[in-house]
Amino acid sequence: MNILVTGANGQLGRHVRRCSADSVHTFHFTDVEELDITDLAAVQCFVSKNKIDAIINCAAYVNVDKAESEEELADKINHVAVGYLADTMAQVGGLLVHFSTDYVFGGNRNNTPCTEEEPVNPTGAYGRTKLSGEQVILASGCRHIIIRTSWLYSEYGKNFCKTMLELTKTKPTLNVVFDQVGTPTYAGDLAQAVCSIIEKDLVSGNEGLYHFSNEGVCSWYDFTKEIARQSGHKDCIIMPCHSSEYPSPVVRPSYSVLDKTKFKKTFGLNVPYWTDSLTVCLRNLGAL
Ligand SMILES: NC(=O)c1ccc[n+]([C@@H]2O[C@H](COP(=O)([O-])OP(=O)(O)OC[C@H]3O[C@@H](n4cnc5c(N)ncnc54)[C@H](OP(=O)(O)O)[C@@H]3O)[C@@H](O)[C@H]2O)c1
Repeated sequence: MNILVTGANGQLGRHVRRCSADSVHTFHFTDVEELDITDLAAVQCFVSKNKIDAIINCAAYVNVDKAESEEELADKINHVAVGYLADTMAQVGGLLVHFSTDYVFGGNRNNTPCTEEEPVNPTGAYGRTKLSGEQVILASGCRHIIIRTSWLYSEYGKNFCKTMLELTKTKPTLNVVFDQVGTPTYAGDLAQAVCSIIEKDLVSGNEGLYHFSNEGVCSWYDFTKEIARQSGHKDCIIMPCHSSEYPSPVVRPSYSVLDKTKFKKTFGLNVPYWTDSLTVCLRNLGAL
């Protein structure tokens, strides 16, 4: 297969590059400079010129707070452009692998992990645009795998793990929210899962919507404590605090754990526990 990876310089895109190194398929890695997914003609031209059979769309607008004042731009990338990718794949009978987010939920009031059947209820612009992206894929009729994930982090770019690694090293004290609970997802594990699904040819008959994160549950406070513990940053005093102490333009869900049962049953893949994956990431960052 000829596979196009968009947004290939992002956290997930970089891990897809790594995981696909030994693939039998031919990968074309692009980011906005080589292929702007909001340019329909460019997408169609790239797909036809390179005889693309599948797209792994790692491109996205991911700034949750900024999306509140830039919803039009976020929508263009997370929804309209996703429609271009989906329509283009529908035209050639190709596959679209796409990523969405726990922000399509407003949080689960019953504090139970969200399944794919849970009613969606985004509370901010980012979640709305990502949900529209999911819907436009369904409307296109293209073959698709949509994977909702949460709390993505990696060795690349800016993310919570890297920020807290630095802050716990340099600050004497830190206040971190303990009243938002979810599951971190190491981008390396998500990329590995996607590459395995493609390499093992598990897509056919299993198209649809899935949830994926690492195993386990924690708060941002727990996540920070574990980053500091594993990296030996003993001097920083980490205190739990309430979300209300960090005013934000977006209401963040207090409980947004994704239920991965469908993903695990369908693809038979092993999902690592979040602290084990954190160890891998910290080791790659040279912090262990
Ligand atoms: N990050 C999280 O915590 C999180 C949580 C849940 C779900 N997700 C989802 O997981 C997926 C991967 O996220 P990520 O953290 O890997 O994102 P990321 O690191 O921000 O990577 C996204 C990449 O897409 C590029 N891009 C932006 N606009 C583009 C365009 N018009 N055409 C082509 N490329 C474009 C970005 O370039 P620039 O950097 O130059 O803009 C960036 O390289 C996304 O679908 C996201 O919604 C992320």
